[in-house]
Amino acid sequence: MKANKITLALLIAVFSMSGTPAWAGQKGIFDNPQEPKMTAPLNVGKLNYQAFCASCHGKTGRGTDKGPTFIHRVYHPGHHADGSFFIAAKKGTRAHHWKFGDMKPVKGVTDAQLSAIVAYVRAVQQANGLF
Ligand code: HEC
Repeated sequence: MKANKITLALLIAVFSMSGTPAWAGQKGIFDNPQEPKMTAPLNVGKLNYQAFCASCHGKTGRGTDKGPTFIHRVYHPGHHADGSFFIAAKKGTRAHHWKFGDMKPVKGVTDAQLSAIVAYVRAVQQANGLF
């Protein structure tokens, strides 16, 4: 955890030194995302995603006025690894990429549900050409 906090502090320092990130002007919404080809495990992820995350991150990860789309290079696995989804859900996150405000910790979501949610989000990203 300590290492994570240091990494986060460094990232925030780099962002504030580099001024406005290139994507800050983008609206954070991905219009009409495609659903991935569904399997039973992905369906579990989708149901949990809809229960815990979609109110802000939108149907099929498209984004809403309360939170960003996940179909964006910012959330590519190389930039936000799977662990960052667990940290965001458990601890929340400060607004730093967008202007949607802070994300509060998500209450009541288990590790197993988060694993399923991340698998669904990755499948959505892939189905929409992020990687
Ligand atoms: C109440 C609204 C809300 C809910 C519910 C919500 N989020 Fe978020 N989330 C946000 C906002 C706003 C941001 C953007 C913060 C920023 O500007 O970078 C965000 C950012 C994130 C990030 C990026 C964190 C980072 O390190 O930059 C991840 C990952 C994430 N959310 C995952 C989830 C998951 C998984 C769920 C469901 C378990 C969820 N969120 C539910 C509002 C929400």
